[in-house]
Amino acid sequence: MTVAVVTGAGRGMGRSCVEKLRGLTEHLVAVDLVAPEIEGTIGLACDVSDPAAIATLVERVDALGPFRALAHVAGISPTMADSRRIFDVDLVATQRLLDAFEPLVVPGSAAVCFSSLAAYQIAPFADPALDSVIDEPLAADFLDRISGLVTDSGYAYGLAKRGVVRASARAAVRWGTRGGRVNSLAPGIIDTPMGRQELEQQPVMRTMLEQVPLGRLGGAGEVAAVAAFLLSDDASFVSGIDVLVDGALVPGMASAG
Ligand SMILES: NC(=O)c1ccc[n+]([C@@H]2O[C@H](COP(=O)([O-])OP(=O)(O)OC[C@H]3O[C@@H](n4cnc5c(N)ncnc54)[C@H](O)[C@@H]3O)[C@@H](O)[C@H]2O)c1
Repeated sequence: MTVAVVTGAGRGMGRSCVEKLRGLTEHLVAVDLVAPEIEGTIGLACDVSDPAAIATLVERVDALGPFRALAHVAGISPTMADSRRIFDVDLVATQRLLDAFEPLVVPGSAAVCFSSLAAYQIAPFADPALDSVIDEPLAADFLDRISGLVTDSGYAYGLAKRGVVRASARAAVRWGTRGGRVNSLAPGIIDTPMGRQELEQQPVMRTMLEQVPLGRLGGAGEVAAVAAFLLSDDASFVSGIDVLVDGALVPGMASAG
């Protein structure tokens, strides 16, 4: 009885991933801060920034059956918290989940971790010194160090998601030796409660939306479909990459100057 897990399953793209992953496995575990009640799934309450809660989640998955898929979608955005909390939820938790699931990996297991368009926006300003800090998110002093260096929540979000891309690529190397795959997925501006909140509270987001060549927000289902592909056996040789699902916004911004 194989098992798939979706974090952030209560709403937005996580909720859409639950729908797109139906049928992949016998058990589908839907995780969020409050246990989601979704027909045909096992709902679990788990704050992904709580190491003990992650340990309990992994134990539960292990008891249900062979681990097949993890869609790690849970995250918070710049208008939701300060830089320290953003690094904790978006980056530290991702590293902890990838590490915690690693012993469960069997041939065919796969993970997709949600990064962001924001990782591409900060790429031109990448700083090797900061990269070396974000590449060790489980260091004892990580949150003190990084939140001292980066106080702007928007930059923290981009940097944390850059860390997610890099953590996923590193995990792909380790999981690969057990026959497992890891990729990250970078959504553009997507029509979810988070996407709407950022559009309402950050005027720059509306300017960016005007630069999307496809001329619209992305749908949560359009992103979840790509996540489901990355987790499927059709993607059996795709590992260690970040897939940008943004309606060509990144090249659109580059050409807008
Ligand atoms: N919406 C966008 O435009 C957009 C763009 C780029 C990247 N992303 C990323 O995509 C992912 C999904 O975004 P969304 O728009 O669906 O967000 P959302 O806010 O609509 O939903 C996120 C879900 O994650 C859950 N969550 C938050 N913190 C959690 C925690 N500590 N533990 C467990 N669950 C937690 C929330 O309760 C919520 O149900 C996030 O990682 C986000 O950073 C979103």
